Amino acid sequence: MDQITIKNIIKAFVKNFSLLLTENMLYPPRHPNVVAQTNHVMAAAEVVFNVLDEIFLTIREGQFVFDGIPLYELKHTVMKTTQLFESKNILCIRFTKNFTQLELSVFTGLLADKSHALDAEALQIKLGTLDIFNISVEKKSSLNKDDDKENFLPAEKIYGSSIEANKLIFNTLLKENTIPMDIVDKVAQDITNIITRDKTYSLALSSLRDYDDYTFTHSANVAILSVALASTILNDAEILTNLARAALLHDIGKIRIPQEILNKPCMLNEEEWRLVRNHPILGAKILEQQKEINKLAVIVAYQHHMKYDKSGYPDNETSCGLHPLVLIVNICDVYDAITSKRVYKKPFPPDKALSIMMRLIGCDFEPRLFKIFIQLIGVYPPGTLVRLNTKEIAVTRKVQTQALLLPEVKIIANESGSLLEKPLIINLSDEQQNSSNRSIEAVLDPKEENIDIISYI
Ligand SMILES: [Fe+2]
Ligand SMILES: [Fe+2]
Repeated sequence: MDQITIKNIIKAFVKNFSLLLTENMLYPPRHPNVVAQTNHVMAAAEVVFNVLDEIFLTIREGQFVFDGIPLYELKHTVMKTTQLFESKNILCIRFTKNFTQLELSVFTGLLADKSHALDAEALQIKLGTLDIFNISVEKKSSLNKDDDKENFLPAEKIYGSSIEANKLIFNTLLKENTIPMDIVDKVAQDITNIITRDKTYSLALSSLRDYDDYTFTHSANVAILSVALASTILNDAEILTNLARAALLHDIGKIRIPQEILNKPCMLNEEEWRLVRNHPILGAKILEQQKEINKLAVIVAYQHHMKYDKSGYPDNETSCGLHPLVLIVNICDVYDAITSKRVYKKPFPPDKALSIMMRLIGCDFEPRLFKIFIQLIGVYPPGTLVRLNTKEIAVTRKVQTQALLLPEVKIIANESGSLLEKPLIINLSDEQQNSSNRSIEAVLDPKEENIDIISYI
């Protein structure tokens, strides 16, 4: 089962569990609502336990966190539950495969019981005295130090958390007409932190194109790429975080365009195209209405389809050029769109995407920034699956700025396609390391080759 499906079934469990707690707070244990909701939780748990042996959740900053990624999408649904857990100093909760309906009922009853408000420690002792061993809670100090030591997410979780955040932004805007800026800020901060710490690795994460729906992956990719590109020319964390925020929200106007138009598998007609071209204006209007919005986000949403030569849309009738940070988002936006899979097109491999974009230097893209972009991501960005001239299969690692066609690679399979027990790291531009003159012959699709790239980066 893939990671997206696992996360979705965990979300269903968490949502049902939170609803059960709410019912428990409102009604006595045998009330039909409580009984019905208990059954829903057990059913959701059964689905999870078909693929996992336990459900381990932590609670951090008002969110449930699963496998290191905050389940932002559930923020509003679970708010009361996370508040209850935090008030009891409960920092994690574990359901193991064999938990019973009785154990669940006793556990939720204890949590919801206001007359015996138990903190994490007292609750765990009580569970032990009642022979409940398949559901347990832990307080903060008993967590692994590594889990708790940093205020920001580990690198490999940033991408997933950005996508979760985008889902929450999308749903909240649709339902309540507001953008949860606290979540946007948190993710923008995480993106800036990780890029400052490890640019190469972050870029590799953004090349995992098939992770989820384009609606949610695209803005995360554009934010990661834009901050990475901007960080090569400026060193101001506040500006970089503002840019991350703006890039995460650059296409927010698309929320007002019918999905069937955005996902139409064939050419748009004139009226549909007019609607799509309106999304920068719609986006800027949505953002202007938000409290505490940074002006840059409004500018980026409005200008991100205007081109360097002042063509593009909406019409650039002013005499002044584009905001310098918009020029960065423009490049990253187009690159991600070309290299992503859409209903109406196959993804272009990075080398082909760059060769298409190179023809537009000076018209669509600012020349100096484009040059820096290529030096940043190379012709084969970190995390690209490639076949070498020796027919070996490799994953690219580091860009070599002096030899963009010859990055450092990790060879993972031999010429007959068998995976190597010990992958071999070679800098293709280093004559000594690459004495057999290996070079990149073609870019491969990890899905077609059935290779999980993330385990190699
Ligand atoms: Fe756009
Ligand atoms: Fe975009």
